[in-house]
Amino acid sequence: MSTEPLEIYLTEQDLARALREDVRIGLTAEPKWLPPKWFYDARGSELFEEITRLPEYYPTRAERAILAACADDIARLSDAKTLIELGSGSSEKTRLLLDAFARPGGLGTFVPLDVSVSALRQSTAKIAADYPGLRVRGIVADFTRQLDRMPAGGRRMVAFLGGTIGNLTPDERAEFLRSMRAALEPGDWLLIGTDLVKDPAVLVPAYDDAAGVTAEFNRNVLRVVNRKLRADFEPDGFDHVAVWDAEREWIEMRLRARHAQRVRVVALDLIVDFAEGEELRTEISAKFHRSGVETELAAAGFEVRAAWTDDEERFLVTLGRAVPTGRLRRAWSRPRRLDHP
Ligand code: AVJ
Repeated sequence: MSTEPLEIYLTEQDLARALREDVRIGLTAEPKWLPPKWFYDARGSELFEEITRLPEYYPTRAERAILAACADDIARLSDAKTLIELGSGSSEKTRLLLDAFARPGGLGTFVPLDVSVSALRQSTAKIAADYPGLRVRGIVADFTRQLDRMPAGGRRMVAFLGGTIGNLTPDERAEFLRSMRAALEPGDWLLIGTDLVKDPAVLVPAYDDAAGVTAEFNRNVLRVVNRKLRADFEPDGFDHVAVWDAEREWIEMRLRARHAQRVRVVALDLIVDFAEGEELRTEISAKFHRSGVETELAAAGFEVRAAWTDDEERFLVTLGRAVPTGRLRRAWSRPRRLDHP
């Protein structure tokens, strides 16, 4: 089928406003921080693609190996008719799923959802060309706030891959899963990729590679703020730092000021001072245990139907099913004693 026009629920102005808010909040906070979603301008997305090919960065390869091995199971178990992919980017790994779903009576619609119009234009055109029987509906929206924009109907599967859920704090994660469950119907599916807790000797180099690509990726957020908010960060004035927080089980990326500096953010009419050695947190990347994923999904109203890992148990792909919640659930489990509100 030919490519349909993108459905746009998020404008450049919305994004610009969100960036201004985030930067104002983060740079005036103590300690300072910036949300990781702003890494991904064109250069940041290229740097991330480069990261996925680094010898130290195992998550992408591990997840691809899992999907290559279990995609047929996922298609068969779920019998989904619509596949929605959040933060789809280039949708490369998704092809493993699309291939598995490609059979008579199988998947009818693929819905990549992303904040980037340009990424969606490219990926929808390529996917539509390669899967002629598939309806491709690209949706421009922010999955942290606009899950209600997901198309309704059919048996849906939402894929949230790459371990991106790890970029949310535990509170944000719970809120995200709750709103995901609210946007779905009982019987719909959630396929989620999570990186697993492992030896810090493996984890830390994945976020601090020898070639320095992750360091450039990290500094790129300063370039984004410079360009979009007329700031004058000096990216080389900051060192890349990656630390494993053993208690909270997440990797934290930071930028550490090499010397005291004053930064002007003209579009915010804001002046920000950094002391020598002061750190700006730019990302958390949480790592999980299988049991934790299951508990968090259950708390949000999803029942785990299957989970797959790679040979070295580095990464996990979990398939959860939306179960009835609240009044409906009580009615289900006690069919003869229906509650009346
Ligand atoms: C794609 C967001 C999951 O947290 O591992 C890679 C991003 N940051 N290297 C991750 C990232 C540093 C990545 N996610």
